Amino acid sequence: MKTINPFPTAGYAGPETFCDRQEETKNLLDAIQNGRNVTLVAPRRLGKTGLVKHVFGKLEREKRTPTVYADVLAAQNLADFTRIFAGAVFGALDTSLEKAVAKVARLFRSCRPTITYDGVSGVPTLSVDFAPDRADATLREVFSYLGRKDRPCAVAIDEFQQVSLFPEKGTEALLRSYVQSVPQVRFVFAGSREHLMRDMFLSSKRPFYQSTQMLSIGPIARDAYRTFASRLFREDGRPLAPEAFDWIYDTFDGVTWYVQASLNRMFGRRAMPCDLEGARRAVVELVRENTYNFSRLLEEYPSGAVRLLRAIAREGHARQPTSGAFLAAHSLRAPSSVAVSLRKLLDKEVVRKDERGYFVDDRLLALWLRDNP
Ligand SMILES: Nc1ncnc2c1ncn2[C@@H]1O[C@H](COP(=O)(O)OP(=O)(O)OP(=O)(O)O)[C@@H](O)[C@H]1O
Ligand SMILES: [Mg+2]
Repeated sequence: MKTINPFPTAGYAGPETFCDRQEETKNLLDAIQNGRNVTLVAPRRLGKTGLVKHVFGKLEREKRTPTVYADVLAAQNLADFTRIFAGAVFGALDTSLEKAVAKVARLFRSCRPTITYDGVSGVPTLSVDFAPDRADATLREVFSYLGRKDRPCAVAIDEFQQVSLFPEKGTEALLRSYVQSVPQVRFVFAGSREHLMRDMFLSSKRPFYQSTQMLSIGPIARDAYRTFASRLFREDGRPLAPEAFDWIYDTFDGVTWYVQASLNRMFGRRAMPCDLEGARRAVVELVRENTYNFSRLLEEYPSGAVRLLRAIAREGHARQPTSGAFLAAHSLRAPSSVAVSLRKLLDKEVVRKDERGYFVDDRLLALWLRDNP
């Protein structure tokens, strides 16, 4: 009997718990091995980060290619970016942190390496410290270090759209020139804020314009995901009813994180049956746990926007939320005020639009809005 839950809901736990993505893995590997930089853009929670880590794991194991992964979501300016990026590069230098610290101290003039311990897990990580006006110099040193390496390496910068929000003008141009200065290093730029990412790479006025191959991912195919999940349940001695899996998949349009979170619940609760009833209970649990967050979130919006959000949630996908029929069906006010609310919800990415219409991006929020008057 397995004790570890094989359905992680955060991070990447290795190839055994990674489902499918064979085609995407092949494409990304192919680009990296043929000298093309890649931009990976897809809606939230589909598995971009997982894919990058899966491919980087393969590169390390099978090709002996060193990899660096930096998540810059928390970066609000160039100094933050430099700190995170330098930490990731230095962290990948050596298996022993002490050795890495010594090496950084020797190689880099502009910054000071330190080992910090995570307050909760106690896991040591390498971080760097520099004077505020030395961010530029440190970044230059980090890139020239990457460039000096005799072996090619692959570098992923996740949540790269953050760079476009920095207050410093010219950051994109600066990074673009650094990227060009290390031609043997392959870059993967990943991001979940699609319009920011597309603007950066597809607008002719921007420094990164057409400098990469664009890749995207959709949901994992239903059959492959069902087979994968069923096997993991079976290995634990509990058959997963196919209709339970299909119900979860449909409820969340196959978006990976929600499917994983539901399966994680079902797997973890041994008393829960692995049938449709168990699946429903798992999802109710997930929604209920988020009630507080959802209430807080809605407090930030005017009542008109909340009414519109609820109406969209009820429809699942709303084709024309400003049409007379939609307004009447949901007792909404004038189309002009609904249009203003819609704009705001789209800007905040609470609502998104795909070929089926407008929908509430957070699928648990959508269920909560639909079921709680
Ligand atoms: N192929 C896969 N098989 C199994 N689980 C996966 C797979 N891809 C992603 N996951 C899981 O799904 C969840 C979401 O994946 P991930 O964080 O990679 O998505 P993301 O697109 O980077 O999301 P975000 O936009 O929030 O950054 C994670 O818990 C991850 O472990
Ligand atoms: Mg991610």
